[in-house]
Amino acid sequence: MHYGGDYNPEQWPEEIWHEDVARMREAGVTMVSLGIFAWSRIQPAEGEFDLDWLDRVIDLLHEGGIAVDLATATASPPPWMHERYPEILPVTVDGVTLGPGSRQHYAPSSPVYRRLAAELVTVLAERYAGHPAVVMWHVNNEYGCHLHADYSDNARDAFRRWLRERYGTVDALNDAWGTSFWSQRYTSFDQVLPPRAAPYSHNPGQLLDFRRFTSDMLLECYLMEREIIRAAGATQPITTNFMGAFMPANYQQWAAHMDVVTDDAYPDPNDPESFRAGAFQRDLMRSLKPEVPWLLMEQATNALNWRPANAPKAPGQMEALSLQSVARGADGILFFQWRQSRAGAEKFHSAMLPHAGTGTRTWREVTRLGATLAALPELPVGQDDARVALVLDWESWWAVDSPDHPQNGLDYLEVVQRWYRALHRRHVQVDIVPPERVDGRYALALAPALYLLRPEGAAALDAFVRGGGHLLAGPFTDVVDPQDRFLDGGFLTRLGGVLGVGIEDFGALVAPDAPGPGEREAPLEGPFGAATGTLLAEEVVARGAETVATFTGGRRAGDPALTRHGAGDGVGWYLATVPDEDGCDAIAGHVLDQAGVAPVLAGLPPTVEAARRGDVVTVINFGAADVDVDVAGHELLRGADVESVTLAPFGVAMVRRS
Ligand code: GLA
Repeated sequence: MHYGGDYNPEQWPEEIWHEDVARMREAGVTMVSLGIFAWSRIQPAEGEFDLDWLDRVIDLLHEGGIAVDLATATASPPPWMHERYPEILPVTVDGVTLGPGSRQHYAPSSPVYRRLAAELVTVLAERYAGHPAVVMWHVNNEYGCHLHADYSDNARDAFRRWLRERYGTVDALNDAWGTSFWSQRYTSFDQVLPPRAAPYSHNPGQLLDFRRFTSDMLLECYLMEREIIRAAGATQPITTNFMGAFMPANYQQWAAHMDVVTDDAYPDPNDPESFRAGAFQRDLMRSLKPEVPWLLMEQATNALNWRPANAPKAPGQMEALSLQSVARGADGILFFQWRQSRAGAEKFHSAMLPHAGTGTRTWREVTRLGATLAALPELPVGQDDARVALVLDWESWWAVDSPDHPQNGLDYLEVVQRWYRALHRRHVQVDIVPPERVDGRYALALAPALYLLRPEGAAALDAFVRGGGHLLAGPFTDVVDPQDRFLDGGFLTRLGGVLGVGIEDFGALVAPDAPGPGEREAPLEGPFGAATGTLLAEEVVARGAETVATFTGGRRAGDPALTRHGAGDGVGWYLATVPDEDGCDAIAGHVLDQAGVAPVLAGLPPTVEAARRGDVVTVINFGAADVDVDVAGHELLRGADVESVTLAPFGVAMVRRS
């Protein structure tokens, strides 16, 4: 178990560093992420490097037995860079150049930025590749955070290069984007631009490719740094910190290039349900690379500074959320940051060592958590035995997010998370994967709004059902190809076989929060009781499937709402609407039952969560009252054999089951 946080010694005089190391030892810190925003300190001018201070800090940490996750410091360019090379600055969709004075003010595709970043990383890698304190490399920081897309001339030139590589000929590009529509036919790649502000809707193929390009530009920056570090002979694992389900970067594609997945998570203490979003994020991280334990690279000990109202964490909440990460596959808990800053935009952000000192609840909780983690035995690693796959796909997310759909109020991530919450309330272990990763290890796969479906994903889902799995799909699933174009033969052209249905119309309802008149809800009824559909009430035509639930009102009254179709050894379910929270709950219950999926632990209230990590079951009470839980085995936090445990609010038990 790693334990620690971001360490920014450049913000403090050197005498403080000695106190820092002593305090870190007291708190049980094992590793710090060093120098993430220290570029201007490391390189005060172009071609001029000052590493003596960094040598001293690293040696000091090493003497104190604290390992270093060494940052490459490329996330915030120093002032000399924009002074001399203003062309590195990013530009918004409206043509506004984003200036310096904050952080992340660089165009990821800028050749000048990349050259200067490469120079910095080369110097750092050559100096520290063999340093015994350095156990990990932290490339850049939160790629794409703040700057979700860049529309500068750097991006223009790089987008053209990227499209040339992808399509080879401009005719292939025209075909992929369907440019015969609205007279958009290109005769040269040099006519193509990023989708900058325009009079009306952009070409959806262009929008989708620009998202791919944006993710790829950030990934190229990461890969460039990674190669420099490796070329210098470094053998430590290399990573960059993710931000949960972060739309601009396709982490399902990036994960292959991380030696270890690391993640930053800031659930809102104001939201009593945010622990469910936390669980979703942690399951996503584990699922990205199940064979290697991930690390929680950043969280807050207490209050933040960047929400409209930054509530403190309640006593015990930080520890409960930390152990939620461990329960869901993490082998390390780190914070932003070690010592609270005394100046700058984040001076109100909590830290491990608060500005108010060591006489604080935060410090007591930090030292207690350090001791707790240090006492834990090694925990199981590897793909767990989740029987449910929740399908989340970045490309489908991007495509759904484009305008000009039957229902433009469909929030893809929110819909996926709504299903996750239903499963979480039922204490079911879930992996969150793209469709290509759905296979026979699962009993049930849920694929909501899988609008863009790649041929490999379609083949995997088809084979999954035929091999004996239950697939619950829809609505707005299997609509377009990877270029956001319809396929011949209508909709559900790939999954229609196993689902036994076709779609005639998407049947948009007025979104629940949209103004104006019109139908907003589609009531339905089935063996799970009555439920409410929202957003879409599709016109489904049965082609072999039986109707399980029927719309009971509105324009689709009497028509199928949920269908079931036996295909091969499995079952394809199709749902024609987006149920509300209770509806997802009821339908999930029915389908879990039919697929024979059991919860991690039965009989728990929905505010108590249960997660399995190999033979260790963790239960956490996120409710407001004490709860008794029947779970027998060796309780790792108390070091005792138990038959049951009583959990106070934010109480945790980790039971190795016999
Ligand atoms: C992000 C950054 C950190 C810090 C925190 C504050 O995660 O990586 O540098 O700004 O947010 O919550």
